[in-house]
Amino acid sequence: MRLTLATIATLAVSAAALPQGGSLLGLPLDIGALLKSLGPAPANDPRFTTFTPPGSGDVRSPCPGLNALANHNFIPHNGKGNTIPILIKGLAEGLNMGADFTTAIGAAGLLSSPNPLGGSFDLNDLDQHNFPIEHDASISRQDAALGNDQVFYAPNFNQYISFFDGKDVTDIPTASKAKFARYTDSLTKNPEFTYGLREAVLSYGENSLYLQTLADPVSGNAKVEYVKTFFEKEQLPYGLGWRPSAAPITLASLGVMVAELYASGPEPIPEGARIVADSYKDVIVALVGGSEILGNLTDGISTALGL
Ligand code: HEM
Ligand SMILES: *[C@@H]1O[C@H](CO)[C@@H](O)[C@H](O)[C@H]1NC(C)=O
Ligand SMILES: [Mg+2]
Repeated sequence: MRLTLATIATLAVSAAALPQGGSLLGLPLDIGALLKSLGPAPANDPRFTTFTPPGSGDVRSPCPGLNALANHNFIPHNGKGNTIPILIKGLAEGLNMGADFTTAIGAAGLLSSPNPLGGSFDLNDLDQHNFPIEHDASISRQDAALGNDQVFYAPNFNQYISFFDGKDVTDIPTASKAKFARYTDSLTKNPEFTYGLREAVLSYGENSLYLQTLADPVSGNAKVEYVKTFFEKEQLPYGLGWRPSAAPITLASLGVMVAELYASGPEPIPEGARIVADSYKDVIVALVGGSEILGNLTDGISTALGL
């Protein structure tokens, strides 16, 4: 299935699907109101143009998306105390992420904190190797067995981005080849290389995340200079002309691109496994231990969103 922008907007967990007034399946009123009012901040929001790299005492993560949002103050600049409501609001305002994506992956983030039921995580909690999200063969980080899995590592990113040499914009087949090169690099160099279906789906998801946030939920055509700014500086490329996607980026839109990236590349997955559009959501829900735990971790927000 190839989604159009219109179908994605309909599929998106958005204001329209939620009851008017009153609480949402018993959620506190402020959460119901939050879910109804999501979308990118207005173009003149000063956070888009205010970029402040981390200072002393600030923490960051192996995720360029969260780091960039912290550098622009869409989520706490110190990197600490990220709750699901803070993330739902900040990720929508900065990048037009749908609440379904943020709630599901945010719950996985909570699991990496020392106190998962405490309801928040710090960005540096996310660098725990192989649990629940961090994995080998990243685009722009080293494998944990070979170096620091948290900070940007130029040689790996340069290997990836060189596949776009001579092009102004990205495309799905080239992204898939570049990702495969990172996979074979780790396979060759890392005696502790850990990579199965979970890692494959998450890393196709991360390719989809930058392709969609830096362009739109469908085309796969992001300007290569935006991609460089995003990874190398952990900065939103607003000054280069980028604006947040007009359509929200959801588990559904990401899932479709995960399947497209997989289908257009040579990377093997374990015998008997399949990667289809639902795989992305399924892997994330399984990662946190199923829908019920997801509901408990997110205080029922995931249930209200139909996850
Ligand atoms: C609560 C939300 C999020 C959480 C908990 C999260 C967590 C993570 C973690 C732990 C990684 C490391 C995986 C690895 O080993 O490579 C990662 C990678 C990544 N994330 Fe996020 N993330 C979130 C939201 C986002 C958003 C909104 C974007 C939008 C662009 C994004 C883009 C990426 C990309 C592109 C990578 C791959 C980095 C690489 O391979 O070098 N993430 N994320
Ligand atoms: C979820 O929370 C409910 C209520 O506290 C509890 O009864 C249930 O066992 C929890 N489920 C899981 C899977 O932890
Ligand atoms: Mg990694």
